[in-house]
Amino acid sequence: MKVLAILYEGGQAAAEEPRLLGTVQNQLGLRSYLEGLGHEFIVSSSKEGPDSDFQKHIVDAEVLITTPFHPGYLTRDLVEKAKNLKLCITAGVGSDHIDLNAAVDHKIQVLEVSGSNVVSVAEHVVMSILLLVRNFVPAHEMIERGDWQVSQIARNAFDLENKVVGTIGAGRIGYRVLQRLVPFDCKELLYFDYTPLPAEAQKAVGARRVEDLREFVSQCDVVTVNCPLHEGTRGLVNAELLKHFKRGAWLVNTARGAICDKDAVAEALASGQLSGYAGDVWNVQPAPKDHVWRTAKNPLGGGNGMVPHYSGTTLDAQARYASGVRSILANYFGDQQQDPANVIVGLGEYVTKAYGQR
Ligand code: NAI
Repeated sequence: MKVLAILYEGGQAAAEEPRLLGTVQNQLGLRSYLEGLGHEFIVSSSKEGPDSDFQKHIVDAEVLITTPFHPGYLTRDLVEKAKNLKLCITAGVGSDHIDLNAAVDHKIQVLEVSGSNVVSVAEHVVMSILLLVRNFVPAHEMIERGDWQVSQIARNAFDLENKVVGTIGAGRIGYRVLQRLVPFDCKELLYFDYTPLPAEAQKAVGARRVEDLREFVSQCDVVTVNCPLHEGTRGLVNAELLKHFKRGAWLVNTARGAICDKDAVAEALASGQLSGYAGDVWNVQPAPKDHVWRTAKNPLGGGNGMVPHYSGTTLDAQARYASGVRSILANYFGDQQQDPANVIVGLGEYVTKAYGQR
């Protein structure tokens, strides 16, 4: 059987650090396992265009392993060429780079390693909220430049205490963000999700659900996006919705870049409608050198907390998702039932509700 993995280049770092399991070099630690079972294992980072290894090998691979950190986009077109494909495994969480409707139609199962990096991301969200609200990045840059102008920084630095923070999506990550915010004594914690939290869970974090998205954003000082990318969330945070944000709100998006309209966010930051935008996800990855989110700033020259897509790929997370991928493979080879929490698309049907319904 051919197993194809599209992973990211690890370069010198991966040669020196074997725990960088999600790289082409370290191959999720799967090579000897798969070859020991007699399978062919192709690993590459080459994913764009008809001459890429991805497009070359997808035609006869039975299993495809991809990573959200260097997404191999499995379009309907490619699904139709992938005559042997039966199983797609996302090494991590978030399978929007797979055309899920096409997978349903072609009875290709799609699984993620659910929960493998949700704490990693939730920690990153809380960090990003703090670094925006406290105006941290410009403060550090000032120090590197050799300057010292406290007032320049303090004029746009606030406490998180007594602010209203809301999450779009209160699933595994969104809920963990709320849990981690409890000790900050925010004025209120809000969430917007079409699935209400269980009463006990909602009570435990003291959160309130707001059912209308415009109303929700109009009440938040900080909005964090923690829902999957699907047909119902693509471009959800656009120019129209941004008008309903409190003036000077902070926005953190570690879910998927395309949930926020790239240009609308940059414009809202430039006009001061947003005081800050932070996150690690981009509408195209790797982001082009001139991507507006790399350098977008608020009128005071700060408010940018963008980093490459890494919040869910800490070394701790890599250990978890590599071992999760191996378990999914072992279940598949042994014809065992998969953990239902990992199944996004089963045989010809959506299993999760998180990606919306067709
Ligand atoms: P989850 O499935 O546990 O929770 C997602 C929640 O979003 C669910 O409660 C669902 O009802 C809600 N939702 C879906 N559509 C919505 C909509 N239109 N409006 C409001 N809520 C909606 O997923 P989890 O584990 O919390 O992950 C969420 C997303 O975070 C992933 O799909 C992925 O895109 C992203 N992620 C990013 C990572 C990174 O490294 N930056 C790593 C892991 C996940």
